[in-house]
Amino acid sequence: MTLIVCKAISTDATALLRLVRDCVAAMRAAGIEQWDEVYPNAETIASDTEAGTMHILNVEDTIIGSITIDQNMDQMWLGMTWSADSGPAFAVHRLMVHPTQQDRGFAKRLMQHAESVARQQGGRSIRLDTFLHNPAAMALYPHLGYRRTGIAMMRKGEFVGFEKLL
Ligand SMILES: CC(C)(COP(=O)(O)OP(=O)(O)OC[C@H]1O[C@@H](n2cnc3c(N)ncnc32)[C@H](O)[C@@H]1OP(=O)(O)O)[C@@H](O)C(=O)NCCC(=O)NCCS
Repeated sequence: MTLIVCKAISTDATALLRLVRDCVAAMRAAGIEQWDEVYPNAETIASDTEAGTMHILNVEDTIIGSITIDQNMDQMWLGMTWSADSGPAFAVHRLMVHPTQQDRGFAKRLMQHAESVARQQGGRSIRLDTFLHNPAAMALYPHLGYRRTGIAMMRKGEFVGFEKLL
């Protein structure tokens, strides 16, 4: 099996939208109302690929996962308790692994890649949030060494902040 992680480019948009659509369908089937047609959408993906901040995991030339690593902090994170010595901080957004490929360590691999990208750019920490009622994501981040920093109420409900010092 050949695994490649690389930056997404604009021609990946159709495959990435299919990946989002399949993830949203599986999340809905599991009762996880975190993502929908509003987010993440085609504009989000276009903006990530143009910024060069979206990275994809290819298996045998098929995109099976993606992650965005940048320095865009959500305004809603301002009330959370981030470590005093955590700057420069990077942020992870839109981590996803195709439903047929989950539970094989691919999200862990994408997170390790994002941490490595942040380190290469001088980052001292990673920040992110996830939906309180997303059991896989809520288990994943503590498993990878992330600590909870608080809760913010967003469009879809309660989101939990997580941080890891690099
Ligand atoms: C959350 C998600 C990215 C996890 O991807 P994955 O490739 O299945 O995760 P991994 O196989 O790398 O799992 C790594 C660790 O996460 C935890 N984990 C992952 N899925 C889990 C689940 N369904 N239940 C409990 N723990 C889980 C485990 O601790 C696992 O480690 P282990 O295998 O050593 O026990 C995936 O379910 C997904 O894409 N969901 C839809 C989109 C989404 O929710 N994104 C997160 C937005 S914040």
